Amino acid sequence: MRALPALITALTALGAYYVYTPLPSTLSEPWKLMLLDATFRCAQDLSNLAHYFGLSHHLRVLNFVSNYFDQLDPVSSAHLKVTDTVFDGVQVRIFEPDAELDGSLKRAIIYIHGGGWALGSARARSYDTLCRRISEDVNAIVVSIEYRLVPNVHFPEQLNDVYAATKYILLPEVLAKYSIDPERIAVSGDSAGGNLAAAVCQQLTQDTSVTTKVKLQALIYPVLQILDFNTPSYQQNTDMPILSGFVMIKFWLDYLNGSHDFAHAMLVNNHTSLDISETVALRERLNWDSLLPPSFKKKYKPVFQSVGSPSVVHGVPALLDIRASPLIAHKEILQKLPKTYVLTCEHDVLRDDGTMYAKRLEEAGVDVTHDHYEDGFHGCMLFAAWPTYFSAGARTREGYINWLKENL
Ligand SMILES: *[C@@H]1O[C@H](CO)[C@@H](O)[C@H](O)[C@H]1NC(C)=O
Ligand SMILES: *[C@@H]1O[C@H](CO)[C@@H](O)[C@H](O)[C@H]1NC(C)=O
Repeated sequence: MRALPALITALTALGAYYVYTPLPSTLSEPWKLMLLDATFRCAQDLSNLAHYFGLSHHLRVLNFVSNYFDQLDPVSSAHLKVTDTVFDGVQVRIFEPDAELDGSLKRAIIYIHGGGWALGSARARSYDTLCRRISEDVNAIVVSIEYRLVPNVHFPEQLNDVYAATKYILLPEVLAKYSIDPERIAVSGDSAGGNLAAAVCQQLTQDTSVTTKVKLQALIYPVLQILDFNTPSYQQNTDMPILSGFVMIKFWLDYLNGSHDFAHAMLVNNHTSLDISETVALRERLNWDSLLPPSFKKKYKPVFQSVGSPSVVHGVPALLDIRASPLIAHKEILQKLPKTYVLTCEHDVLRDDGTMYAKRLEEAGVDVTHDHYEDGFHGCMLFAAWPTYFSAGARTREGYINWLKENL
């Protein structure tokens, strides 16, 4: 029996070691974030273990577990009709406020959920709650797209799904069916969904078959580029919950169907070194230094390798594709984009992706609102209610919804 106290001490120490991550005090509710992060890491470690033992792909395990506990049926309330349907072969969940009332036209928001192109769902409690809230508060129809995910499909299928559903909504007869005002439609998404939303809006500017124009795009801490994993925000937040730099690189590799063997080379920017002609041309299009405010750069030193790992570009050719990295699109495309909202968080590897895009759009003459949250962290907008309430979560959600209310 003497072994028991020793065992308890060991387990407690192990648990504390697992949970404890030093976090800056400028974060919203750092202790709570530490616990949330430990939960995510635990789920990730367990699914990696299942993967290791050949039980299933680790992302499939994670998705299965989260969906098992978290999928909601479409539930309507007195003022909100919620339905699941299919738009041009793509599943969507639609939220319609006061659907039974008069025939007056409504505003509409096309919403694309985040989760590294691999996780998340329009039916998950988190996104169902968010879209419900947006729909009620803005008094707009929200169409939340249930696109297919890694590992079932890879780039560009996720984009093709959201594009097909978006194009379908923009058809005059579909707009009429749902009483949507064709002049008041927004495309929005968070994280990887922000990447897809940005890519959809760029693709729409090139598509002459679509006659309805989108009025707004709203991007919440979007992922926008794969060329540089050493921007100031990647350097400053590399181990920040709930998204580390290394995990972000693995999401990218899974999305583009590349081998995880390349992850370490990408972490040091070996995939875009100066001896690789294809990537030099793309990196020259952007001067990271001029696109970021000095307050973000701090002690930043750009990382350009002179000799790198050409095998990455050859193994993952999609990393040169602008549809994956909307940040590097030509100015001629950016100029045609609609009025834009970009939300970024200080404690997020993706802070500079969003910040640089806001700046490039502004330079191209687009009307941009850039909201930056000093105590925000990646994903915080999903955490705005008990038991995972963060004040940064509630404030980002409020700010975003208010912008939509005023501008859509
Ligand atoms: C993804 O990569 C694997 C292994 O390299 C390959 O067998 C498979 O065909 C690829 N899938 C797609 C959709 O390109
Ligand atoms: C980066 O590339 C250089 C040159 O090929 C190589 O020596 C180095 O090991 C690479 N680093 C990583 C982390 O792959």
